[in-house]
Amino acid sequence: MPILDTIGAGGLPCLDLSNTFGTARIYLHGAHVTSWSPIGQRDVLWMSAYSHFAAGKPIRGGIPLCFPWFGGHPTDASKPAHGFARSMAWTVHSRSETTEHTTVVLALSDSAATKTAWPHAFRAELTLTLGRNLQVALTITNTDNAPFSFTEALHTYFGVGDITQTTVDGLKGAAYDDRAGGGSVARTDQETAVTFAAETDRAYVGINGPHIISDRATGRCIRVEKSGAKTTVVWNPWIAKSAAMPDFGNHEWPHMVCVEAANAFADSVTLQPKASHCCATTLTLV
Ligand code: BG6
Repeated sequence: MPILDTIGAGGLPCLDLSNTFGTARIYLHGAHVTSWSPIGQRDVLWMSAYSHFAAGKPIRGGIPLCFPWFGGHPTDASKPAHGFARSMAWTVHSRSETTEHTTVVLALSDSAATKTAWPHAFRAELTLTLGRNLQVALTITNTDNAPFSFTEALHTYFGVGDITQTTVDGLKGAAYDDRAGGGSVARTDQETAVTFAAETDRAYVGINGPHIISDRATGRCIRVEKSGAKTTVVWNPWIAKSAAMPDFGNHEWPHMVCVEAANAFADSVTLQPKASHCCATTLTLV
């Protein structure tokens, strides 16, 4: 079966995709991709062994969807970080396959629950395409009768052998908001590639990519391409921040890095009624 309905961790429903190119798993909870293994390879995505798998709670690892805001809510700290889309049950809209691709589309629309957090009518579709690479596309449509603005991210966690031997390129000369330690400092990247020696939390604005994650410990390189995503977020929580997160093991931080296709902060998106916007990323094991 190329697309199999199954029950995942915590009893949550998910779809398992498989074809000649590899396998992938997506939970309906959050339209959350938790696994992608090209054929004969170990998983490209990182998952915490301590992740929650429960209604109303985000999954730690894989590809969380941040929508309709990235990070903390801009004016109301009581609202969930990174928005509500990653903690809600999505529905399966369609599934299809060709000799080249296996594709599923999951959907989420406004409801009484979403309107208490964000008072707009919308439709969100997450298209997951498993082929020679993995494509993830989040399309937002304004179904309201007035414009709205939002921020978003495909908050992808990649597995690495050793973060201290990992680099991320394609960011030299770019302006970024340095958010490590909870602050916000404007900087410009002068390095050929990002290296990691402390908590790293950077939102690069107005940057197209692509980025290459080079993991010297395993010899693995992953190409991260983006479209409709003006921001790239690079994140590793390091020791203290990961220790403060109950769903993140104390010894897991050396083995992950987030490189996120986003529209965040100054790169917010405004949609007129009936208009759509697509933020997408394509991941390739090089
Ligand atoms: C990153 C942010 O994208 O997500 C970080 O830049 C944040 O600031 C991280 O800590 C994880 O967020 P959360 O809500 O999943 O713990």
